[in-house]
Formats: sequence, C-alpha cells, structure tokens
Amino acid sequence: MWNHSGVELDRTTEETKDLDMDAAALLAFKVWTYKQGELVSLMIHLGDRLGLYHDLAHAGPTTPAELAERTGLHQRWLLEWLRGQAAAGLLETTDGETFEMSPESATVLSDESDSLLFAAGAFQGGAAPPEVVDRIAEAFRTGIGLTYDEMGPAAAHSVERMLAPWSRIALVPELLPRLADASERLGGGARVIDVGCGAGTAVLTLAEAFPGSTFEGWDPSAHAIERARAAAAERGIPNATFVQQPAAGLPDEPTFDLVLTFDCLHDMTHPEQAAEAIRGCIAADGTWLIKEVKAGDTWAENQRNPVLAMMYATSVLTCMSSALSAPDGAGLGTLGLPPARLEQLCRDAGFSGAFDVHDIGDPANLYYEVRPN
Ligand SMILES: C[S@@+](CC[C@H](N)C(=O)[O-])C[C@H]1O[C@@H](n2cnc3c(N)ncnc32)[C@H](O)[C@@H]1O
Repeated sequence: MWNHSGVELDRTTEETKDLDMDAAALLAFKVWTYKQGELVSLMIHLGDRLGLYHDLAHAGPTTPAELAERTGLHQRWLLEWLRGQAAAGLLETTDGETFEMSPESATVLSDESDSLLFAAGAFQGGAAPPEVVDRIAEAFRTGIGLTYDEMGPAAAHSVERMLAPWSRIALVPELLPRLADASERLGGGARVIDVGCGAGTAVLTLAEAFPGSTFEGWDPSAHAIERARAAAAERGIPNATFVQQPAAGLPDEPTFDLVLTFDCLHDMTHPEQAAEAIRGCIAADGTWLIKEVKAGDTWAENQRNPVLAMMYATSVLTCMSSALSAPDGAGLGTLGLPPARLEQLCRDAGFSGAFDVHDIGDPANLYYEVRPN
C-alpha cells in the first residue's frame, strides 16, 4: 500500500492495529475531498476575481486561446484552470479543449446582480489569512475570540459579498410584503435602524426603495462602516447614515418604527443587552425584524442541515469567535439561536407582543417579526 507521498506503508503494521482498512480508506478519501474543496474554492475565487466566470457566462463554447484573447490573460494558465473547473463539475467539456458554462453555472458563479443563488462572492480571499488562523488557534487556549474588525478589512469585504445579494434582491420584493405593515409604513415615512448593519447593503437598498423614510446603520466594525459610508457616497443616497457603535449604545427613547438585526444577534457578545437596547429604542407600535440562521434545538434536528460542517467551521472562524470576543461573551455562534431560544431572548427583553416566524424558502435563514406590545 502506498500513501500520498509515494512511500510504501508497512502493511503488517497497519494490519496489527486491528483496523478496518476499507473504512480507513473511505475516511481518507473523505478527508481528501475536503482538501479538494479547499483548493477548488481558491480556483473559484480566481475565476471570480479575474472575471473569467463573467466572460464565460455569455460566451458559448470557448477555447483557452479565445479566452486568453478576450481577457488578456495567459493561455497556458487558463487551460489548467479551465480543465480544473471542468473536473470540478463547474464547466462543461467533452474533450478538455473547448469549454462551456451552463446557464445554471452562470447563475451560481457569475450572476451577482440578480441571482439569489449567486455564491462566488463567498469565496473571496480564502477562509482566513494565516495571521487570523494563528489567532484562532490561540483563542482555543485563551477562550477569547476575535471581533469582526480583528479579522481585518478583507473579512468585512467577504462578509459583504456573501450576504449582500439577499438584501439587494429579496428584502424588498420577497420579505417586506409578508410583514403586517412594513411596506406601508416605509412608504409613508418611517425611521429605521439596522443594528449590526455590516457594510450597509440592507440600509442602502431600503433607503433607495423608500426615499421618504430615514435610515441609520449601526455596527461596531470600523471596516464595515467605512465600506457602508463609501457605498452611500458613491450611490448618492441622502437618507442613510452610518454610525460606528455596538447595539448597547442605542438611544433609550422609543424612536424607531422599524429595527433590523440581520444575521448578527448570534455574533454578539451580549445579545440579551442588545435586545434590551432595541426594546428601549423601538416605537410602541414598531416592528423588530430579525434574520437568524435556521438552527434546530437539538443535534439530531441540525443533522438535517446538508452543510452542517460548514456552519460549525464558520462559527469557529467567525460567529462564535466574535460572540466570545469579550471575556464574559455569550458565545452563541452560528447555530446558537433556534426559534425557541430567540423568542425567550425577546420575551426576557420585554417584547410582549406578537412573535411571528416567516419561512420564506431561504434554506439558511428564518425571519422573525417581533412586536414590543
Ligand atoms: C455576519 S455580519 C452581518 C452584517 C449584516 N447585517 C448583513 O446581513 O450583511 C455580523 C455583524 O454583526 C456585527 N456585530 C457584532 N457585535 C455587534 C454588536 N454588539 N452590536 C452591533 N453589531 C455587532 C459585526 O460587526 C458584523 O458586522
């Protein structure tokens, strides 16, 4: 038997360990598929970054020479990348010489502006730079994780590219009409705050759709707020402002008709304080709209999630890490707020009105419409 470096393994040593060698070989294969996933992820990032998917999406059958001509990139490098993409099942080829992108592949890998299935943005720059990995390893010793800002400016960009398509494409046409009165109130002129707004896509999308309402985005991340302010200035959106502050600093007066927290309560060190602060700043007839990861109450329920391992890895790298970035952090993490626990959090913070759950067919998230009274 040979291992991957071509060294012959001592078969008798292996056998005396009382191993099921077939099961071990299968497990080794599984482990190598994760390595393959890591490397194909990097190739997806290159395809996205170099505009290759954009080009191929509209091009029809393409040879490396034609792709090189159109993009100005080197043909030999493109050939290797194209063959790898076909091997990964992302492009089509019959001869390894001419390649084509299917409409389905274009939807997932190229169509950032109007496809909810667009995924290439999530491959921005690898899972984490080495210095962040070093700090995560250290966090296993200290117990203290990294804030979003401590993961660096590239992480803010990655998070934005991964989450922005939903806010841009689905928030106004898909989610708002399901809420009791949000569209009417926004149309009539409302005060809105997005707590944990990240790079501000939801705020900017709503501000453009409802020019008679005013919008604030709050987030403690300097990198995210910088991106949000730059986007607002570039798009010339006058009714949106951004504040670099955590939820705990919200004004203690019933000011806002609509409060948003999208994909961020489980990242907070003190989500219960955030809920109390939101209770303090929401109008008596206001709405708190929450987007939270679709999590189960038990390990068995979570087994139904086909990307469960990715969720836990995301938690270690990002969500739980952020939620443990203070010594007394709650540390909820990616799967830490299933519906019952979220409802308890809201009730404990003084939200005594309706708690409605909206499952709008988003495989990863649930949406909650919560009323203070
Ligand atoms: C996964 S991102 C979501 C960003 C944005 N809501 C979206 O959907 O794109 C989580 C955000 O929560 C923010 N966050 C973490 N702790 C926070 C706190 N205490 N108050 C407000 N935001 C916080 C992080 O800085 C980060 O921008």
